[in-house]
Amino acid sequence: MKKSRKLRNWDNKTWLSSKAYITQFNKFLKTKINFNKNLKILDIGCGRANIISALQRKYKLKNKPIGIDIISNKGVKKNIIFKRVDALKYLDKKEKYDLILIKQTIHFFSKINLNRLLNLTKKRLNTRGKILIFSLKTKNNKIPCFKKMRKNLKKSLKRDEVLFKIIKKNLKKISYTNFNFKVNISKQKYVRMIKERYISCLLNMSNKDIKFGISEIESKYKNQIKFTDTLKCISYKR
Ligand SMILES: C[S@@+](CC[C@H](N)C(=O)[O-])C[C@H]1O[C@@H](n2cnc3c(N)ncnc32)[C@H](O)[C@@H]1O
Repeated sequence: MKKSRKLRNWDNKTWLSSKAYITQFNKFLKTKINFNKNLKILDIGCGRANIISALQRKYKLKNKPIGIDIISNKGVKKNIIFKRVDALKYLDKKEKYDLILIKQTIHFFSKINLNRLLNLTKKRLNTRGKILIFSLKTKNNKIPCFKKMRKNLKKSLKRDEVLFKIIKKNLKKISYTNFNFKVNISKQKYVRMIKERYISCLLNMSNKDIKFGISEIESKYKNQIKFTDTLKCISYKR
């Protein structure tokens, strides 16, 4: 049986963990949330917890933000509380939060489990608490891809559209905005990210496909790759 790989390099020294990205992302969060030191934050699928770590540094929250993930990666930030646990299990607890962040994580859930996740998440919100869900924009996505990668990504984004419908049906009163980040990355660095299978649509490809894909990227792009990484933000308020 083919061994299924895990996503480990998403935020491992990529633009997604860069200071510029985290700063801009947290500025965006500020347009949605009135931050103060009493805020309780939960980040579902937090990866290395760069976002909540920066929030903790800036707002010196009385309760350290909690980040949960099924994988415990090397280099998880230390100034937050990290728990290696499945979100569906963790949300069974009674604690409540003012902000529950679910960034680039919904695509890991089946349709049934996404509904479970949303039902549990709603129950874990304080009065006036907010759920913010971020996910890649599905139309005209600019992530640089080789052919097979684009095919996989398109398939995954099609599925995301179904997940968005589930979210709309479940949460009802939601609003949408976009978070845009202008990426300027050297081709060499991007090739390394592909080699390290930074994005889910690369996880199940053969080494041969990756090698072939990299040569496609090598010939298709100039030394510096520029594009806009756009996330759809779905906001729900209790
Ligand atoms: C693409 S990464 C996003 C990381 C981080 N939110 C960010 O945007 O930088 C998605 C993360 O969700 C985690 N994940 C997937 N299924 C999960 C589950 N059932 N419970 C908790 N975390 C999960 C993965 O291990 C991975 O670290």
